[in-house]
Amino acid sequence: MSSSPVKLGILGTGNIANAFAEGLTHAANIELVAVASRTQAAAIAFAQKHDVAKKYSTYADLAADPEIELVYLATPHVRHRDDSVMCLQAGKGVLCEKPFSINAKEAKEVIDLARERNVFLMEAMWTRFLPSFVKLREMLVNGVIGDVQLILAGGAFQPDCDPDYYLLRPELGGGVLLDAGVYPVSVASMVLGAPTQIKACGTVGEHNVDDQDAILLQHDGGATAILYVSMKASASPDITLLGSRGRIYVHAPMFAPAKIHLQVYGENVQEFELPFEGNGYHYQAIAAAQAIRNGDTESSVMPLEETLTIMQTLDCVRDQVGMLYPMEK
Ligand SMILES: NC(=O)c1ccc[n+]([C@@H]2O[C@H](COP(=O)([O-])OP(=O)(O)OC[C@H]3O[C@@H](n4cnc5c(N)ncnc54)[C@H](OP(=O)(O)O)[C@@H]3O)[C@@H](O)[C@H]2O)c1
Repeated sequence: MSSSPVKLGILGTGNIANAFAEGLTHAANIELVAVASRTQAAAIAFAQKHDVAKKYSTYADLAADPEIELVYLATPHVRHRDDSVMCLQAGKGVLCEKPFSINAKEAKEVIDLARERNVFLMEAMWTRFLPSFVKLREMLVNGVIGDVQLILAGGAFQPDCDPDYYLLRPELGGGVLLDAGVYPVSVASMVLGAPTQIKACGTVGEHNVDDQDAILLQHDGGATAILYVSMKASASPDITLLGSRGRIYVHAPMFAPAKIHLQVYGENVQEFELPFEGNGYHYQAIAAAQAIRNGDTESSVMPLEETLTIMQTLDCVRDQVGMLYPMEK
């Protein structure tokens, strides 16, 4: 088995592509060898900035490069299905930004293809790979707060972005649920598994995308998650887990926390400082590269079946909120 760094290519040259490339300077098991943009100028500028040897002016050219083993998809949600399919068909492993797709139907199509081709595929839910989330899972596995009965998680922000940015454009899969609501939904899924009941209400705003969602998830045994996300107000995104023996507070921001408070009922609060290196985007990439070198086709931390369940939950919420995308009509 090879121990050489996994050769990685990036599709897209926007915000997260740049942050991810910066993060990769902390990933010894990955070599960033190529970038692809829809325009030559953007590919060249990105390659210069991040010292990338190959720059392609079509995504298909990068997917066809025989040197590349893993492709990180940093394109808008609406492209995730087609970009994943193109890379998987070319035999490349795929690390796909969140949300994994627009809906569960697309997610299933991509997952089925990866399984058929026996190729690595993972949703880039980077938060799960940070030291704080590793610690959180360790606490839960060890039952330090007993059985989790309630999850309270959410956040609100008022975006100051160009109306051309994907967040405000329904044809690009915009809206606050798929962009930010996926984080609390993913937390509830990681802690409690698939919900048995989903109730939601929300609003679709002036840009014809959902701008606020409130979600109630019920699980086997009665555990409940109360989740919210909004781009009409402002509140730090955080997580509280209430268990039968204690509670855990995960400090904001919930997508990149660095501090956890644990209180076993009747005892003093314990504080855990859990900083991450750099910008934190490399932990997921290191795990994906390790999986590829181990010959695994998926991650045990972010399994494909769970990604599919999360997309099903998001579908159900959108259905109740009345947020249907143009390509779904
Ligand atoms: N994990 C995180 O923390 C995090 C943070 C932000 C975003 N994301 C996810 O990453 C994805 C990209 O977000 P972003 O903030 O990086 O967006 P962005 O700045 O708009 O970048 C997206 C890139 O995708 C490419 N692209 C392809 N088709 C496009 C189209 N029709 N319109 C616009 N761009 C198109 C463009 O690159 P070229 O012009 O070079 O082709 C563009 O620069 C989204 O799915 C988002 O949910 C994740």
